[in-house]
Amino acid sequence: MAECQRSLLQAQRKALPIASARDALLREIRSHDCCVVVGETGSGKTTQIPQYILESGLGRKGCVGVTQPRRVAAVSIAIRVALERCCPLGQEVGYSVRFDDKSSPATKLKYLTDGMLLREAISDPLLSRYSVILLDEAHERTVHTDILFGVVKTAQKIRSEKQLKKLRIIVMSATLAAESFSNYFNKAKILYIQGRQFPVEIFYTAIKQQDYTHATVTTVLQLHEDSEKKGDILVFLTGREEIESVNSLLTLCKVMFPSDWLDMIVFPFYAALPTKKQQDAFLPARGGARKVILSTNVAETSITIPNIRYVVDCGMVKAKGYNPHIGLDLLSVQPVSKAQARQRAGRAGREAPGACYRLYTEDYFAELLNDTVPEIQRSSLSSVILQLLALGISNIVEFDFMDPPSEESLVRALEQLYLLGAIETDSSEEGVKLTALGLKMAQFPLEPSLAKTLLSAGEHGCGVEIVNIVSMLSVDSVLFTPQDKRERALESRRKFVSPDGDHLMLLKIYRAFKSVKGNKSWCHENFIHMRHMSTVMDVRRQLTELCGRVGVELGTGGAECSEGVRRALIGGLFMNIAEHAGEGKYLTHKTRQQVYIHPSSCLFHVKPHPPCVVYSELVYTSKCYMRNVSVVESDWSTTPTTPR
Ligand code: CDP
Ligand code: MG
Repeated sequence: MAECQRSLLQAQRKALPIASARDALLREIRSHDCCVVVGETGSGKTTQIPQYILESGLGRKGCVGVTQPRRVAAVSIAIRVALERCCPLGQEVGYSVRFDDKSSPATKLKYLTDGMLLREAISDPLLSRYSVILLDEAHERTVHTDILFGVVKTAQKIRSEKQLKKLRIIVMSATLAAESFSNYFNKAKILYIQGRQFPVEIFYTAIKQQDYTHATVTTVLQLHEDSEKKGDILVFLTGREEIESVNSLLTLCKVMFPSDWLDMIVFPFYAALPTKKQQDAFLPARGGARKVILSTNVAETSITIPNIRYVVDCGMVKAKGYNPHIGLDLLSVQPVSKAQARQRAGRAGREAPGACYRLYTEDYFAELLNDTVPEIQRSSLSSVILQLLALGISNIVEFDFMDPPSEESLVRALEQLYLLGAIETDSSEEGVKLTALGLKMAQFPLEPSLAKTLLSAGEHGCGVEIVNIVSMLSVDSVLFTPQDKRERALESRRKFVSPDGDHLMLLKIYRAFKSVKGNKSWCHENFIHMRHMSTVMDVRRQLTELCGRVGVELGTGGAECSEGVRRALIGGLFMNIAEHAGEGKYLTHKTRQQVYIHPSSCLFHVKPHPPCVVYSELVYTSKCYMRNVSVVESDWSTTPTTPR
């Protein structure tokens, strides 16, 4: 690395608000086994505290692990810290996220998603390789973080009782609700880091906006037009499709800018973006142009992009919601909480006074919930319970939750796991235990229903096919449809369409990709995301390896696999069956929820409507839609196989 870049990075490190608190922080961390660190986003918690610990030798008896709720944060922060420490990624500094591990035995500082640390705890409940664990972004309260609280707390206690190596726990958060964390962690010491926060002026719209993407474009253009306004613009939207559509609208408008206007460069920022592109958003724009960053809520707290003076907030967020009555996990666009809206606004005042434009009215803000509800209270728990059982925690109800989920969700999840054949009642103690099948299922980083599908595929002679399909399902859609070439894209897609549905279509695409050996121009001609396909190949390799490790014979159905594949899908997704009830409306099996085939499905236009279908997931937009749908016969056994 160039010497000047190195000294620049070191100078940046020293200039962070946290740098002056370094010694005081280390003193406190040394003398307390549990600490809660609260500090304004961007003050340097995530990148610096782990390095201070490393440099002080506090963590020398093991590895320092830092958890992140988001994969994109874990990766980008590890890259940044490796750069600051002048070491190649995967050596002293590394990361580990689902299906992507850049760590080695030499790694002393590891950024990992909370889900990955939970997975490690399955084979090592005392987390013995770690000397310090930092649970970052604790205010996000993801299911995995909440479970980790209990796991890490227990590991610390047992290690201390058995006089093993000490485990230090540091909980980090950007908000002030530190007391509840402190109380939970045995009255942990709370440390506040002084951040820099300049005033941020808040603007609301006078009337309710019908279309916030349109309002976003107008607001960004108005801000950009004003040459008095210096600094970059950060826009909060809900997801990738929205971001890309605003991106193309802004790019279209740019062509019409008068020549004396400042240039404007738009950077999308979301999890599925290639790492290189994510990194670009951190760099100053060429020739003093204005940057406009279109981000999901990842830029709320996990990621800090320098030079932001204006924030545009659509007021919505894509989040998981769970309805225990109908047993559905729904990813939907919901209003943010007041805490989230304030946090978003705060991003404008890091380096100088700024402004935040809320694309909603002040009355709307007044009605928002104060705080975001912990995810554990709004999501399906079957995957979590499977992991808890794999961790050896059988009495789920007694688990030390910071905020326990509702009893109804717990019961639902247990019921689903029971039907999947993953658990059985434990006669010797109160509680339940994993079956041999459940133990295998827990090894897979997949939803229990998909893990079951995969494990039971062998019975239908199509293991290889199911591995391929599951790999295709685990990435964002591999198909892309550019607005200006829509017709051609749809036309080229026709050859992949299967009368049996989307899962078989995904298999066809996978096979076609394989037969041309991943040829780049083939992908281009067929409107297939090359990069997503390489992720698919990578996931596929790892799933195949896992199958080998747990002793699953895969077997292949060859060309005539369609029925076997769909029967295998039912094997795990038997909760996701819906029957046609006239005019395109479907009713889910058991819960009788109204659902529709998603417009992106290859069955969307099929008439007559298939009488019975199985789907991979539900998405809720204007209606409740089934995504990735296949035709099944209603008399194919929908009763699950008995536990083994
Ligand atoms: O965790 P916290 O929000 O307190 O801050 P951080 O993530 O440690 O980031 C500290 C500073 O490092 C930010 O203000 C950014 O200016 C800088 N940073 C960066 O330039 N590039 C990154 N990939 C990450 C951080
Ligand atoms: Mg942070």
